Amino acid sequence: MKHLLDIYSLSSETIKEILDLAENLKEVLERPIPKVPTLRGKLILLLFYEPSTRTKFSFERACKVLSADTLSFSTKGSSLEKGETILDTIKTLYALGVNLLIIRHSLSGTPHFLAKHLKIPVVNAGDGIHEHPTQALLDMLTVREKLGTLSDLKVAIVGDIKHSRVAHSDILGFQKMGAKVYVTGPAHLLPDPKEAEFFEVRKGCFKVCYKMEEALKEADVVIALRIQRERHGEPYIPTLQEYAENFGLSPKHLELIKEKALLMHPGPINWGVELSYEMEQYPFQVILDQVKNGVAIRMAILLKLLSGD
Ligand code: CP
Repeated sequence: MKHLLDIYSLSSETIKEILDLAENLKEVLERPIPKVPTLRGKLILLLFYEPSTRTKFSFERACKVLSADTLSFSTKGSSLEKGETILDTIKTLYALGVNLLIIRHSLSGTPHFLAKHLKIPVVNAGDGIHEHPTQALLDMLTVREKLGTLSDLKVAIVGDIKHSRVAHSDILGFQKMGAKVYVTGPAHLLPDPKEAEFFEVRKGCFKVCYKMEEALKEADVVIALRIQRERHGEPYIPTLQEYAENFGLSPKHLELIKEKALLMHPGPINWGVELSYEMEQYPFQVILDQVKNGVAIRMAILLKLLSGD
């Protein structure tokens, strides 16, 4: 593995290797002093052109646990404000001795573009509406840990599928690991037939459902998504209240899903919109477990890309 750019190009064997490594690394995080010297002397650049809480801080935490040094780049106050291109910015930072770049950007494909021009590993921390591979990996780790398997599961993803990079990575990743993925939400925010063809990476294992009940029925895992209004050029949703009434998950949906089905959300959550406030008390809600697993997954990625360097 030279970079982590997307789930699309990962094999199921590589995904399993990453999940296994992350599972082993969780032991380090539970030690009284959670620190190992493995990446001492490595310099990691965190370049976040879009807001982030979970991804940025869990990458930072992963770097610190592995003893790597970090440089955190803020667009404000940098020479980008004077018109410097992103490629020149990164080449400049590379000249400072950076060993690995983690990037989040609003333009889909930015990590792929940079990977072509740089000699160091690039990690996609979310690119536009394309993919968010580390989120899908931590989602898969959480499900495997809680349910003991990823194969033969029904995973339902609810919401703004079109603009959700998390959904795109989850759709590909869960199928590659043997699950069936059903997506649902407002019809105009669902994949069109051509896109659906692209997302079906295992025959018969991906379905676009125009009726929410079909996606939720007997689901083992339900992933709720935030409405990505910052990525809507024009308003797709009349009001959030209307969205909540039609597509928000609430206790009435619990009778459709399996008895101990997991409820997940990549965050940030808009409580009262995609999830009703009562859903916070649902006993199989694992949202903070996802956040915790994010550190182990990101440690695994850094180790895979930098060990032997
Ligand atoms: N899930 C996720 O990407 O969250 P952040 O935007 O807070 O990083």
